[in-house]
Amino acid sequence: MEISSKDIPVNQLLSEVVQLDRVEYTAHMEKALKLLSREKLTVPLIMVGSGTAGTVAGSGKTVDEIKTYLAERQQDAEVIMTGSLGMCNAEPVVSIQLPGRCRLFFANITTEKVSSLLDDVFHLIIPSENLIGQQRHDAHEPWKDVSFLDEIPFFGQQKRVIISRCGIIDPDSIEEYIARGGYKAFLKTIRHYTYTEICDIVEESGLRGRSGSGFPTGQKWKIACHTPADQKYLVCNAEESDPGAFMDRAIMEGDPHLLIEGICIASYAIGATKAYIYIRSEYTRAISRLEQAIRQAAGYGFLGHNIFGSGFNLGISIRKGPGAFVCGEETALIRSLEGKRGMPRSKPPYPATTGLHKKPTIINNVETLSNIPVIIGKGPKWFRETGTVNNTGTKIFAISGKVKEAGLIEVPLGTNLKDIIFNIAGGTRDGKPLKAIHIGGPSGCILPAGKLDIPVTYEAMSDAGTIMGSGGIVVIDEDVCIIDLVKYYMNFMQKQSCGKCIPCREGTRRMSEILESISRKPQDENGHATLERFKGVIQLESLASVMKDTSLCGLGQKAPNPVLSTLGSFREEYEEHIFDRKCRSNVCTELRTYFIDVEQCTGCSVCAKKCPSDAVFGTPLHPYFIVQEKCTGCGICFDSCKFSAIDYK
Ligand SMILES: Cc1cc2nc3c(=O)[nH]c(=O)nc-3n(C[C@H](O)[C@H](O)[C@H](O)COP(=O)(O)O)c2cc1C
Repeated sequence: MEISSKDIPVNQLLSEVVQLDRVEYTAHMEKALKLLSREKLTVPLIMVGSGTAGTVAGSGKTVDEIKTYLAERQQDAEVIMTGSLGMCNAEPVVSIQLPGRCRLFFANITTEKVSSLLDDVFHLIIPSENLIGQQRHDAHEPWKDVSFLDEIPFFGQQKRVIISRCGIIDPDSIEEYIARGGYKAFLKTIRHYTYTEICDIVEESGLRGRSGSGFPTGQKWKIACHTPADQKYLVCNAEESDPGAFMDRAIMEGDPHLLIEGICIASYAIGATKAYIYIRSEYTRAISRLEQAIRQAAGYGFLGHNIFGSGFNLGISIRKGPGAFVCGEETALIRSLEGKRGMPRSKPPYPATTGLHKKPTIINNVETLSNIPVIIGKGPKWFRETGTVNNTGTKIFAISGKVKEAGLIEVPLGTNLKDIIFNIAGGTRDGKPLKAIHIGGPSGCILPAGKLDIPVTYEAMSDAGTIMGSGGIVVIDEDVCIIDLVKYYMNFMQKQSCGKCIPCREGTRRMSEILESISRKPQDENGHATLERFKGVIQLESLASVMKDTSLCGLGQKAPNPVLSTLGSFREEYEEHIFDRKCRSNVCTELRTYFIDVEQCTGCSVCAKKCPSDAVFGTPLHPYFIVQEKCTGCGICFDSCKFSAIDYK
């Protein structure tokens, strides 16, 4: 008799699987695991990308529409909200798997497209519109004339290890995670290895901190492991405070058990019995998925007291952070966890010896910890085969900005940066010339287009005058003004500075003022202000070096990076703003001088009525004119003129 996933005594089966540490399963168990992992289906499976990008694109309504369609036609199918496949522009992504066939993926399935898509697929017709491709699977029959995902440039050149299940599995199902081999690495850890052996394995793998620190993870763990204490802590840094980054969020929303398993192994390795996930409170979906995952893991005995008879105890709690950039810095994070205001302290002592409540504490990034089950499961040698000698494994990048394929890209470390931007992400969105990329968040660097031919390794990035950062990359085309962008980041840093140390608090403020002054309307300046502006510009570099050398934490030390990385490469653009008072990208509107063409002006008076600063004068039905001293350069007159009579230079 054919069994369905509903017939399986899941808890009993999986308890057997995990408790007996089996390698060989009975035929019945094998079949049941295939059903749970969705390798084998009894009814069609429909998955809708419902991570943050999917939700914003309307995945909730798509799910409702799919359910209505199925109910009206009495069609049996399982509908699941999954994480993000990584193609943010394609959301809501809908994947459909019919029993025995390869899974198909479709882009931008909004409500009005649901019924025709399902009509077609249920009648074995594959519409080419919105089709992304099919997932290759040895046990499934492929669809004729449909590309496999690995044949599409976006996926084909990636090596998906950490995000391989995102957008593919049900993130709310621990059963699916276990059936796909999940928690085996943790069970192997507590059954077969000592604390130090796990630290050795991680050190041997060459894994380096994915937050951008690049610090060898195994080495860091050993410090805490060898520091005697009655209590140790493991903290997962899920603050993801870089505004351009969303790698950690995607892992937590798409494959939360991978992170929980990584935390379990890391806690064991350092001897911690208490772990915290410190996450920004805005990440509501990730928080609810993690809460559910922790409950499920405890339910199966992966958390709690004397886990599977190993003598190891572990509890994981979630702590919501305020979403402040500085709270991602490890010592500020610790203070925040202790219930105090998130402010950094000078190091040493490092948290590995004196951390949370003055106890040895290891703080690791979400992506770092998500690598751990893979390293333990497949071995350090397997892990080292990807990447370069000193930069092993993969790195996930979150690409956004003026790019064709915004989303998540996982590649081996050492991959050429230019290949990532052009071959995987497809280059600029409108085919406009690439001007630069911004990498590493607000404290990162801006690399001009001509300097992208470098491998993504910690060393090569540093030699090129930039940083790896946590993985946020913003693509910049010719329409973006570098001064405006740098000004944005400096304003952000100024607002995020905790104010504890003077170089950061005052330095970010002064740098913001200087950048503001070079993009401000020249008419507002008297002679004294002009002098101040020039003086400020001359001081930019020395101010930056004082901040770098004397700030208390990485926020102030790295805040000048966007300015310093552009002063050389985009010198002409700075000079145009400073001396010619011009913005070549036409972004700094305050530098514009608006004028009215008397030949074109009909005297309709709309511009005069809309001008917020009463700078437009004239008599109705006669040409109007602009009083430059009063004009703030807002451009409302330009936008409101129906006769193209207003222009600027
Ligand atoms: C201003 C500032 C913000 C930071 N924000 C984060 C963050 O959001 N997430 C993170 O993992 N690390 C962040 N870090 C780095 C952490 O201090 C710490 O080095 C990191 O969590 C260690 O993890 P790893 O060894 O796994 O890379 C930040 C550092 C600074 C200076």
